[in-house]
Amino acid sequence: MTQERALVHVRELEEIAQRRLPSPVWDYLSGGSGDESSVHANQAVLDRLWLRPSVLTGTARPDPGTTLLGHPLRLPLGVAPMAHHRLFHPEGETATARGAAAAGALFVASIFANRTLEEMAGHTTGPCWLQLYWLRRRDQLEKLIARAEEAGFGALVLTVDAPVVARRRRDIRNGFTIPEEVRAVNLDAAVMASVHRGSAGASALTAHSEEQFDTTITWADLDWLRARTRLPLVLKGVLTAEDALRAVNHGVDGIVVSNHGGRQLSGAIPAVAALPAITAVVAGRCAVLVDGAFRHGTDVLKALALGADTVLVGRPVLWGLAWDGAEGVAAVLELLGAELTEAMLLCGCGRPADAGPFLVAGPQSGPPWTGAFPPASTEPV
Ligand code: LAC
Repeated sequence: MTQERALVHVRELEEIAQRRLPSPVWDYLSGGSGDESSVHANQAVLDRLWLRPSVLTGTARPDPGTTLLGHPLRLPLGVAPMAHHRLFHPEGETATARGAAAAGALFVASIFANRTLEEMAGHTTGPCWLQLYWLRRRDQLEKLIARAEEAGFGALVLTVDAPVVARRRRDIRNGFTIPEEVRAVNLDAAVMASVHRGSAGASALTAHSEEQFDTTITWADLDWLRARTRLPLVLKGVLTAEDALRAVNHGVDGIVVSNHGGRQLSGAIPAVAALPAITAVVAGRCAVLVDGAFRHGTDVLKALALGADTVLVGRPVLWGLAWDGAEGVAAVLELLGAELTEAMLLCGCGRPADAGPFLVAGPQSGPPWTGAFPPASTEPV
């Protein structure tokens, strides 16, 4: 490790990253849409859940490992798709991919990555998935899909909660643009030109999405995507049981329950609050991932108890990247993994799939809870 001290809590890196990054980049990373209520609600909902440990279970060595769409993972964790990693570290996504693989976690690359698909796949021994926005330029999607298959990517993740990049007040105030030297190299320069074009009182990302994203797509368009790839298809940004059921009926291989880290629909339900109703309706027919404010291993165990297969980690990974490149990313994921393994031991939970009984809702009132908990086991051991 190149770091001078051990990491004790991933939140320590938040301050370090804030000091290191230019303030518009920091605002872009930390901010959300509207009043940022959905950013904070993600954390608040996790804090309202409590773990209920079983004692004297003889669980000597919990194994947090899992298999996700055929990929064995040492930890039930992944890097959430996030754009433009070169804003955070000169090496960009190849460092993030290496860090994820070192920790035994999944890496999900953004369509707006600053390193080529081939470079990212070449730098990691772990599973890599590719996230897509539905661009008006379908030729660009077709080229990306063919390259992702060739490079050995393991799945496509279509983000469905962003027909437009929502109004983010910090980015609007900052007139946020992506610097010229930070390039989304997997797309034609013409498709990306407007993210580099500043205008006072506007976010270039929102302007770019209005210009380039296809807002007309429906469930029927998934068939077009399906017909063009042999890769598993994952939908990211599902928040209701009705949409989860539609996704299953359209044959998707996975969904990511997500409110986009509070960056899209302001006031959207926190992902973890949406999770129980979704895992209940999906009932194992596709993989269920979740993201949004996972900052401690016990947070991860709570999501596993609600039926998630894997937790995606967003902002803390970029704090780690800004701190110490690939090693910083690995340190964040390994710390979450160590905390998770300890929490499993303390609960008497041997495997992620057995986490269901170890959760109760806290006594505090909060936003409406949308689903029932999995039944707690009352059987004597
Ligand atoms: C975001 C979009 C671009 O910044 O993914 O959240």
